Amino acid sequence: MSDSTLLNRATLIIDQVTAEKPADYVLRGELGAAKHLLSAEKRDIARAVFAYYRWLGWLDEKASTQARLAAALELQCKFAADPFSFKPEALAALAVPAWVASEMDLSPDYLRHLQREPALWIRVQKEFAAALPRSLGNCAPASTPLIPEALRPTALAYSGKTDLYKTSEFQKGVFEIQDLASQLVGHAAAPKPGETWWDACAGQGGKTLHLAELMENKGLIWASDRNTGRLAALRKRAARAQVFNYRANIWNGGPFLPTKTKFDGILIDAPCSGVGTWQRNPHARWTTTPNDVKELAEIQLQLLNHAAGALKPGGRLLYVVCTLTRSETTAIADAFTAAHADFQPDAVLGQGPQLFFQPHELDANGMFLAAWKKKV
Ligand SMILES: C[S@@+](CC[C@H](N)C(=O)[O-])C[C@H]1O[C@@H](n2cnc3c(N)ncnc32)[C@H](O)[C@@H]1O
Repeated sequence: MSDSTLLNRATLIIDQVTAEKPADYVLRGELGAAKHLLSAEKRDIARAVFAYYRWLGWLDEKASTQARLAAALELQCKFAADPFSFKPEALAALAVPAWVASEMDLSPDYLRHLQREPALWIRVQKEFAAALPRSLGNCAPASTPLIPEALRPTALAYSGKTDLYKTSEFQKGVFEIQDLASQLVGHAAAPKPGETWWDACAGQGGKTLHLAELMENKGLIWASDRNTGRLAALRKRAARAQVFNYRANIWNGGPFLPTKTKFDGILIDAPCSGVGTWQRNPHARWTTTPNDVKELAEIQLQLLNHAAGALKPGGRLLYVVCTLTRSETTAIADAFTAAHADFQPDAVLGQGPQLFFQPHELDANGMFLAAWKKKV
């Protein structure tokens, strides 16, 4: 595709984007419908659209969308060639909205990481971990010591150009596309075969599938969400990955739980402002508001309070959000601890009971985890 065709196609997409129709949503629709385009062409269009929102703070408001997009692509090239030519003060002022500085630390390393293109992580089933890198190529295993050494080859950074969704290995459920930080959540839960777990905000089941694999498909996972569409997608993914030890049920987060079962472990991967995904999804930097943070924090504490009653004595509760704002992370975990004397804060991945995954340290999404044990 020529440079001007790329600019035209990406501009058509950017012009449809609004707060209600975010960039990733418009991209999915437009690229999904563009059957005549090659995978590599679609990838280039998506990269151009994301570069536009990554560099939006630098762009001339009065210029046309196409001129702004061209400027954003130039800035992305300049940054790739020399990230240190951008001063941290400029990044703090232009790469993120002003309100976020009161909610988190903006270190120069974090800000530079935000302006890079994101890594692509896959999670391969343990039995295929040796063979998959040979057949796909361009795979590098995670090096983080937060994953038990024997399982590190199951987390792979993929740097090739193949459309992974079209590979026979993906279609047979050999691997999932899953960010490294999300994979670490499964390892932090560390469910054992034969246990009973509740994935309370299961969405499309990214973490349910990982829990099932770690449980060697033995035991039971209750997967719930308030969104029926997401649970339908979860069922499809589970069938592809040959995961059968789960039950998918609606739960709206209220006091009426989907079952009277008492669980060995509960994972609450709560809805959040998603600040930890701002490298991958830069448009969200400009649509997320302090009011979203406030409203989501109330929902998060409510979800924890309601779900915690379903834990067995001695069971483990894990709270997870893919955001880094204080209101949705440490403030929620501290409030839960203060209100529940029967819950003891518990180590996460051999660290303290509250753990941040910093995006620039993992080359992945930012996340926060907190864990408790229910006293016996
Ligand atoms: C961070 S996403 C979960 C991602 C999922 N665990 C995964 O790994 O793919 C949060 C989920 O919480 C669900 N949710 C939002 N509000 C909820 C509520 N009040 N009760 C239950 N689920 C809710 C959303 O539908 C969304 O699927």
